[in-house]
Amino acid sequence: MYEILKNVDPQVYQSIVHEIHRQRDQIELIASENFAPLAVLAAAASPLTNKYAEGYPRARWYGGCQYIDQAEDLARERVIKLFGAEHANVQPHSGTQANMAVLLAMLDAGDTILAMDLACGGHLSHGHPMNFSGKFYNVVSYGVDRKTEQLDYNEISELASTHKPKLIIAGASAYPRIIDFAKFRAIADKVGAYLLVDMAHFAGMVAAGIYPNPVEYAEFVTSTTHKTLRGPRGGFILCQKKFAKKIDSAVFPGIQGGPLMHIIAAKAVGFGLSLKDEFKEYQKKLVRNAAYFADALSKKDFRIVSGGTDTHLFLVDVRAKGLTGKECATFLEEVNITVNKNLIPYDPEPPLVTSGIRIGTPAITTRGMGTLEMEILAECIEMAVCNRKDAGKMDQVKEKVAQLAEKFPLYPEIKDADDR
Ligand SMILES: Cc1ncc(COP(=O)(O)O)c(C=O)c1O
Repeated sequence: MYEILKNVDPQVYQSIVHEIHRQRDQIELIASENFAPLAVLAAAASPLTNKYAEGYPRARWYGGCQYIDQAEDLARERVIKLFGAEHANVQPHSGTQANMAVLLAMLDAGDTILAMDLACGGHLSHGHPMNFSGKFYNVVSYGVDRKTEQLDYNEISELASTHKPKLIIAGASAYPRIIDFAKFRAIADKVGAYLLVDMAHFAGMVAAGIYPNPVEYAEFVTSTTHKTLRGPRGGFILCQKKFAKKIDSAVFPGIQGGPLMHIIAAKAVGFGLSLKDEFKEYQKKLVRNAAYFADALSKKDFRIVSGGTDTHLFLVDVRAKGLTGKECATFLEEVNITVNKNLIPYDPEPPLVTSGIRIGTPAITTRGMGTLEMEILAECIEMAVCNRKDAGKMDQVKEKVAQLAEKFPLYPEIKDADDR
């Protein structure tokens, strides 16, 4: 598959080969990652990358767009069908740009937004001071209840009444529970605010019908395509028809130039696969896996934030094991288990240290792992954490992880990546 690259640019070839092997050899527990199907990779690597297509189907600035239009039409039609939306824009290059386009379309600089604090599970593009969203808008943040570690809708409602935001954002990067969109809708209606739901993390479960569909409640829904949705890296926006023009103009020419047509074609392939029954089964399995995994760790005296999970991810407070999140992630990487350090709600540690790790099951479920493997992985994590200073024991865990990786091969079709 990469033979041509090997001859033309052996250095880049080597980095790709090493990365393929890293993905194969490590157990990927980063909740925002997944393994895109080969058909998605094929579309993303196609000559559609050559085409300039500023504008939208049948309204482009460039000639020669008839086939590009077909790909974008397919992506739009399929994502509309998948989520029951009125209008879709599939051009945002990323989830952050999808959010940026909605804010640009609907707000003026200085307007107030109410969104979840990053420290409690929100996303940078929901108003972090270092992000455009925190620089251009007046941001009021909500967190989670200190005791339950779950959203406190009364607090959100009070904040909305006090600060009268023009737009409220629901959705998060590290919140394991189902979000009550009806409650958010009621709060937004009470103060006359728009509601934006960023479903980047749970979009796959929404598509499968096992998580409430935010399209039924929010004027705007944004998402990435590469997390639970298992498509190429990218973003999209769904909105009501009456906002279609504003949203489309905010994406192009508002914040982007030419769309990435190879990625839009890959999004179409991904959405097509998400419409199939197998995808629904996959989503059910990844949620079941996350629940088992969290339960198995909790039985080994790891504290699970909010007491569990309803989704594909959960947070583990690792302080009781005498570790910070950063140390825990480093020890796990030594045995080829990849996680990310993560703030837990009201974390006493700074963001680069943290008291927790975030664990997600999308990637390992794509590899075919089930509840038995969740038990094995929980054992591996406990063994690594408890024996982190014992090289021999760490080697044993590494061997267990290697056996698991071998049992569930990744991209076996990519043969020539075998020569390292
Ligand atoms: C809730 C949420 N929104 C948006 C994004 C941004 O996506 P991207 O990295 O594609 O900009 C993320 C990424 O992790 C996310 O978790």
